[in-house]
Amino acid sequence: MSTELIRPARSINGSLTLPGDKSISHRYAMLAGLAEGTSRLTNFSTGADPHSTLACIAALGANVSKQQDGVIEITGTTGRFRQPEGNLDCGNSGSTMRMLAGLVASHPHTFVLTGDHSLSARPMERIRKPLAEMGAEIHLTGGDGAIGGHAPMTVVGHPLTAIDFTTPIPSAQVKTAVLFAGLQARGTTSLSEAVRTRDHSEHALRAFGATVIRSGSASDGTSRLSIEGGQKLHAIDATVPGDLSSAAFFLAASLLFPDSHLVLDALGMNPTRAALLDVISGLGAKIRMLNVEEIHGELVGTIQVNADPHPRRLKEPFEISGVLAAQLIDEIPVLAAIAPYTATGIRIRDASELRVKESDRIDLVAHNLRAMGAALTEFEDGLDVPGNQQLYGGTIDSGHDHRIAMAFSIAALRATGDTEIQGADAASISFPGFFTELDRLAQRG
Ligand code: S3P
Repeated sequence: MSTELIRPARSINGSLTLPGDKSISHRYAMLAGLAEGTSRLTNFSTGADPHSTLACIAALGANVSKQQDGVIEITGTTGRFRQPEGNLDCGNSGSTMRMLAGLVASHPHTFVLTGDHSLSARPMERIRKPLAEMGAEIHLTGGDGAIGGHAPMTVVGHPLTAIDFTTPIPSAQVKTAVLFAGLQARGTTSLSEAVRTRDHSEHALRAFGATVIRSGSASDGTSRLSIEGGQKLHAIDATVPGDLSSAAFFLAASLLFPDSHLVLDALGMNPTRAALLDVISGLGAKIRMLNVEEIHGELVGTIQVNADPHPRRLKEPFEISGVLAAQLIDEIPVLAAIAPYTATGIRIRDASELRVKESDRIDLVAHNLRAMGAALTEFEDGLDVPGNQQLYGGTIDSGHDHRIAMAFSIAALRATGDTEIQGADAASISFPGFFTELDRLAQRG
């Protein structure tokens, strides 16, 4: 476990190209593993999680190689995974475990999916249930406790049949597990979600040659998808857009200092992820988007971020609840960590999913904010963090959670005194270069 010492800064300045989006990297790797031909993936995520996915698809028979220029080449299995020799080790990655379960469930082998301590305590019943309805045989461990069944998980492959499924919780991972299984099932699988979650799987499936039909009402945010089973995938060449959830740390940092100036290139701006940009501007930054283009269905562009010379004066705490809480689920830790420095604070509700992420993120955010001297109120599904508070350098416990380690490194930039981040190496789960980039962009002289 490594420790980083974060010193206060006076602004955030410079330009940055972020490593490839974690969610998109997982999906491209999985579909490339199933497809026919050799896919070439540029700017693949450097995070440990998508590399867990690469190792799993290699164990399933895909040929994975890293070229000298960093491009990941994957020669797929043309729809036929092999019996892996050992367990499929998903490491810390919930996305790997849940989406892979759907991807392999129709293949005639036995797959044992394992994970680290944190992943083995995360709920898996949410994917077992719909996949079992399709005819999959999935055995979870435990099931009596509060989180229900969890890893290690055994998937015994069987032919699958299409279902019509309504997701009970907003989860792109559950949606993806069903779509990936539906792609390989008999009949047409339909799926409805009350809150439209990130749609990278839909774009990725189309990029690899499948037809996914979306209907549903934009006005109430619902979405209905259908996918016909038996469609074949072909390899693609793709550049993975920069990860907006990693950019979130620097965007939040720029809010702390009025003379910050940031340029983020080749950044993913998929509308199902981009609520963050509205929140950052709502909290006082001015964001300009340049050179926006669409690649394989994903919006990519450059953003420039400055302090807004005429910020909207908030009268109430900034509220993140309902659909917004689901859409910002990965960015809430950093927004909560900087909330004490905002004028009116941030109120977070409907975010109980945060309790079953890589850590109990509500509890850890509250604990670490208090360790830095902040006052706040914790709820089962959120936090009230009042604004206008000064924080003090303290000792932060990352709980081995990447987003907690990075969120509090940002809060530390405006604290009085230095802050020690214990378990800082957790950042490498999604963003191994984080501390180097932070040091480069944080102006301290
Ligand atoms: C992800 C979906 C979200 C998110 C996770 C990545 C994905 O999880 O928190 O970091 O790539 O689909 P849920 O599906 O559990 O909401």
